[in-house]
Amino acid sequence: MNDLHHNTNANSLFQVATSFLVLYVATVVVIFVPDFDHDLIRFVLISALFLISFLFQFYILNQKVKTERRRKNELSQILREQDMTARMLVRRDRDLTSINEQLREIDAMKSEFVSVAAHQLRTPLSGLKWSLDMLITEQVGKLPVEQKSLLMKSYESNERMISLVNNLLNVDRIEAGRTDLELTPLNMKDVVESVLYYILPQVHDKGIDLDLQAPSDLPNVHADGQKIREAVQNIIENAVKYTPQSGKVIIKLTASGGSVTVSVSDTGIGIPKEQQGDVFKKFFRSINAVRVKTGGTGLGLFVAREIVKKHNGTVEFESEEGKGTTFRITLPVAENERGGKNTQ
Ligand SMILES: Nc1ncnc2c1ncn2[C@@H]1O[C@H](COP(=O)(O)OP(=O)(O)O)[C@@H](O)[C@H]1O
Ligand SMILES: [Mg+2]
Repeated sequence: MNDLHHNTNANSLFQVATSFLVLYVATVVVIFVPDFDHDLIRFVLISALFLISFLFQFYILNQKVKTERRRKNELSQILREQDMTARMLVRRDRDLTSINEQLREIDAMKSEFVSVAAHQLRTPLSGLKWSLDMLITEQVGKLPVEQKSLLMKSYESNERMISLVNNLLNVDRIEAGRTDLELTPLNMKDVVESVLYYILPQVHDKGIDLDLQAPSDLPNVHADGQKIREAVQNIIENAVKYTPQSGKVIIKLTASGGSVTVSVSDTGIGIPKEQQGDVFKKFFRSINAVRVKTGGTGLGLFVAREIVKKHNGTVEFESEEGKGTTFRITLPVAENERGGKNTQ
């Protein structure tokens, strides 16, 4: 559109210039040819020359004014568009801020809901746990073997439910940055044994050969007993859960270089190589795990690693699909025990 305008202008300019040139030549001829004796024609030609010269200058001036006006219009158009864009951006920014606030509120409500629901569930589950424990340990009377075995299964299911609720509460606390630790000196062998206490019935049911190897003089770590127990429980539970009938699980406790390591090896289904990078992500479950064990939240390892990280420790693993997996939790030895009993 602009180009067309430009071309038309150039054409008119060209026409005026050519007419001017022709007239100029004619006037020069009339003035300087000595025999030409028509004063009236001479007068008309000179006047026309002046007139055309005047018109030519007027035309050029007019063109300049038009161009300037066009530029001014274009500029104000651009400024108007910029102004509109700026207003739109401000509006969008306001909308986004308000959506963000709404999301934060919804997130806080969700967090509150999970926290309240999990707390409410924990109390009856704990009650159930202690009643079952009293029955199983025969504190209220002897029990026939079959009833005892049924009660042990209930105890085990109840423990799984407690573990699930704890994981939900832990995720909530981790995400809200509320994982406060109550640190005390802790022997990791005691922690492992307390986890095994409830997991053993499941181990026996599956005919799994479980081996615990630990030195008698394992140095203490400085840790929050309940939280570290949850981390260790998640990892041992996985080893038993993802190892088929008659497999083997070896739990080895070692101390070296100022830290204690709990290593849990199994001969289970393993984790596919291409999925190993996702193992600690929240809600992750590998394809082969979903296939063999439909139950699971994919929260256990996320929680375990976050808890261990809070203790300045690490969780590592190596795994081969179809062969087995080893998870290793490493925690620093308590300050006052350093250099003392660092034995294997
Ligand atoms: N010992 C193991 N053997 C094989 N796969 C494992 C093992 N431990 C963890 N995994 C894989 O990591 C995933 C995440 O584990 P976890 O967070 O405990 O979730 P969940 O056990 O509820 O599925 C599991 O679903 C499984 O795919
Ligand atoms: Mg698990």
